[in-house]
Amino acid sequence: MSSPIKTIGVMTSGGDSPGMNAAIRAVVRASLSYGVQVYGIKRGYEGMIDGDIIPMVSNSVSNIIQRGGTILKSARSERFRTVEGRAQAYEQLKKHGIDAVVAIGGDGTFSGALQFNKEHDIPFVGIPGTIDCDLYGTDYTLGFDTAVNTAVDAIDRIRDTADSHDRLFFVEVMGRDAGFIALYSGIAGGAEATLIPESKTDLNSLMTMLSKGWERKKSSMIVVVAEGDEIGGAYQMAERVKEKFNYYDIRVSVLGHIQRGGSPSCADRVLGSRMGVAAVEALLAGRVQIMIGIVNNHIHYTSLEKAVKHNQDIDMNLLKLGEILTS
Ligand code: F6P
Repeated sequence: MSSPIKTIGVMTSGGDSPGMNAAIRAVVRASLSYGVQVYGIKRGYEGMIDGDIIPMVSNSVSNIIQRGGTILKSARSERFRTVEGRAQAYEQLKKHGIDAVVAIGGDGTFSGALQFNKEHDIPFVGIPGTIDCDLYGTDYTLGFDTAVNTAVDAIDRIRDTADSHDRLFFVEVMGRDAGFIALYSGIAGGAEATLIPESKTDLNSLMTMLSKGWERKKSSMIVVVAEGDEIGGAYQMAERVKEKFNYYDIRVSVLGHIQRGGSPSCADRVLGSRMGVAAVEALLAGRVQIMIGIVNNHIHYTSLEKAVKHNQDIDMNLLKLGEILTS
């Protein structure tokens, strides 16, 4: 493969997600196998501005495929939002001879890359790394599979104790703007209801469903709530329900950042590996300002422009399916 790109930088930015290390490893090993030098840019755009940039060799990524988090660390950078910050970052990339960057992250990461590329001649390829699975142009993002399995495991455990005490639980999962984790973990955990930001929360039908459950003498009920739900999360939902039904023994459990950590699943390790290699191959083939996705189990390319403008649509049939299964 002959390409003007001789040196690649790789970085992780925004919220970390399990599988990022698999992607870093794949970017490093693919670059080396194509005879390209590779640097790790630490702490995302923050490290780019500060010149926190280290050479990567094959051993730099040994024994990381199974580790959660990101060995390169991550950050959300305010300084990179400024013209001065981006100019400083460009100087640092030039100083290290970096011709192109593979950025692993979400919406914010890709918006930063687009803005940077308008001002400076450094091409980017994006890899979707976020547990939220909300990016357009890919069926799955890195970390979603692991996060959702962590949530399901927690819901199963909550079910055991809820069942022993005939309790109603509100379980809050991550997803500030997206309900994918809630939707999938709700179906897999047999939740009685799932509330997500993409659909209006119908308190009346939730109340009807809960009273039907009470009449049917269900021994436990679980309502999965995405943190970005319009009513405001699991605690607020529990309050609203308590006002109406004082006979329920209600508990709330907020799963939080537990969902972001932990060893990546097989699916996320394979996805990170495929996307990492595809990102390097895309750069060397001159495909730039794109995000690598996976659609129908094939590598798919979407312009970064499109990826940030749109969100992946949630399949409302899945919400309906959850309702049918608990009726
Ligand atoms: O990375 C996505 C996400 O995990 C969202 O689901 C969540 O709302 C947000 O990040 C939390 O961000 P932070 O770790 O900065 O609190």
